[in-house]
Amino acid sequence: MPAPERRLSTTVLVIGTGGSGLRAAIELAESGVAVLAVGKRPRLDAHTALAAGGINAALGTMDPQDNWRQHAADTIKESYYLANPHTVEIVTKGAGQGIADLERYGMAFAREEDGRISQRYFGAHTYRRTAFAGDYTGLEIQRTLVRRAEQLDVPILDGVYITRILVRDNVVFGAYGFDLEDGTRYLIHADAVILAAGGHTRIWRRTSSRRDENTGDSFRLAVEAGGRLRDPELVQFHPSGILEPQNAAGTLVSEAARGEGGILRNGLGERFMSRYDPERMELSTRDRVALAAYTEISEGRGTANGGVWLDVSHLPRETIMTRLPRVYQTLLELQMLDITTSPIEIAPTAHYSMGGVWVRPDDHGTDVDGLYAIGEASSGLHGANRLGGNSLIELLVFGRIVGQAAAAYAAGLEVQHRSADAVAKARSEIDDLLAAGGSENVRALQRAIRNTMTEHAGVVRNEEGLRAGLAELDAIEARIDDVGIHPDIAGYADLAHAFDLKASALAARATLAAALERRESRGCHNRSDYPDQDPELQVNLIWSPGAGVVAEPVPPVSAEVAELIGDVSQEGKLVE
Ligand code: FUM
Repeated sequence: MPAPERRLSTTVLVIGTGGSGLRAAIELAESGVAVLAVGKRPRLDAHTALAAGGINAALGTMDPQDNWRQHAADTIKESYYLANPHTVEIVTKGAGQGIADLERYGMAFAREEDGRISQRYFGAHTYRRTAFAGDYTGLEIQRTLVRRAEQLDVPILDGVYITRILVRDNVVFGAYGFDLEDGTRYLIHADAVILAAGGHTRIWRRTSSRRDENTGDSFRLAVEAGGRLRDPELVQFHPSGILEPQNAAGTLVSEAARGEGGILRNGLGERFMSRYDPERMELSTRDRVALAAYTEISEGRGTANGGVWLDVSHLPRETIMTRLPRVYQTLLELQMLDITTSPIEIAPTAHYSMGGVWVRPDDHGTDVDGLYAIGEASSGLHGANRLGGNSLIELLVFGRIVGQAAAAYAAGLEVQHRSADAVAKARSEIDDLLAAGGSENVRALQRAIRNTMTEHAGVVRNEEGLRAGLAELDAIEARIDDVGIHPDIAGYADLAHAFDLKASALAARATLAAALERRESRGCHNRSDYPDQDPELQVNLIWSPGAGVVAEPVPPVSAEVAELIGDVSQEGKLVE
């Protein structure tokens, strides 16, 4: 019997119900525009809920000298000049409004006794500009946005997996998907579509993402619709992911732990950051701390389990309980470890896709008319190294802007042509997978991709490894043609895994191809065969299946921001 199909119609469809998707949906609903938001996870448990330490805005509550220009300068400098300066200015200028929006929706920020929003240091910020709610900042933001969306009666479909963006003649007209529980198909017609479905960090073995999220869905959906990817090779490895238990390896210990005074030591008990960044020590940039930890471990100065120590046990218990409650709970739950008395064993973990779908800086429109991308799905703000706390503010700023842009686009449409052929292809893609009875197991192939990426495209890379990675990927893709899909009484998770697998394979190919072409070391991208920065490669790398990797110049930085940028030194970048 054919699966039932629900047909829905809206003005703007938002794919993804994390912070950026919800913020865009709220903007649309507040403007009276019909919007529908769909997400594969329960709305209160979208990936944003995992974001820990904070959200940046130059509010100057703690350091009144701070301003948007300095925030922009820090962001561009630490991006190793790969961030788009226009995108950076939009975010840093709009950040105060982003925080004000959250306050308007009732967000409970941590405050000083006199009522000012508290702001703390995060790595490589000139001033204290990271606002927070303990180390549950993302969870509080997610709750706040869900509450606001529900007040506005924004329709939200949880548990719906989008498999295709529907396009005719390079113009979007909706999306197709299925219900993860009962397999019901969804044909959703929309004037405009906002893609807010995250990044691709789950294609590494140790990652701060949970199973089945950040598998590269946004990348595949955008590319198959006709979009391109910018800098997929620029993936942030956060220095502090836990090692055990195996099934939670990579779970984040927030940078807030270092921001509050946590200390890093190697297996010999040495405070190793003095070798890499003696001035900033543990508050150095993420790329440096991650590379430092990696180097200590790979040169044999790690712990017995292949990690380093992060110690907060010297901090007052009260500080830990009020400012690091999630780290405290997580370690207790997962390892029965009391961080008020014992150090935490950590190692770098794939944390954030700094590249993503190619978008215009102003409105985050893609190469496809009517298709927008935001949040971790998009690109332009972070370059080769993201400042902690910048991603959460990006969601707020561009959620608002993209909501407005999609509304304006829809209002300007005089006519929209649909394509029965595109819908038929979306239907048969699911039918074909459901009929697939091959012997290859989807989960095993996902694991194979993770192994390949971990082995060949981790913190340090080289040409030989990247080429080996591409060869392994060819072999894995051949096996993908022979998968067997087995939905069962519990639901359609296996079908979702099959689409995740396709997405992961595409994201892995783009990442390996771009990493190969970036023959230099810059920020998070460390090439042992090209240990220096190459001024010729101060460009973004754009990937598409047809054209491969193509360079795109980065626009110049405005004079008012440029004068606040100090030198970006390579000292401490010991790529061997
Ligand atoms: O470490 C953290 O709390 C992560 C923050 C971020 O990635 O922005």
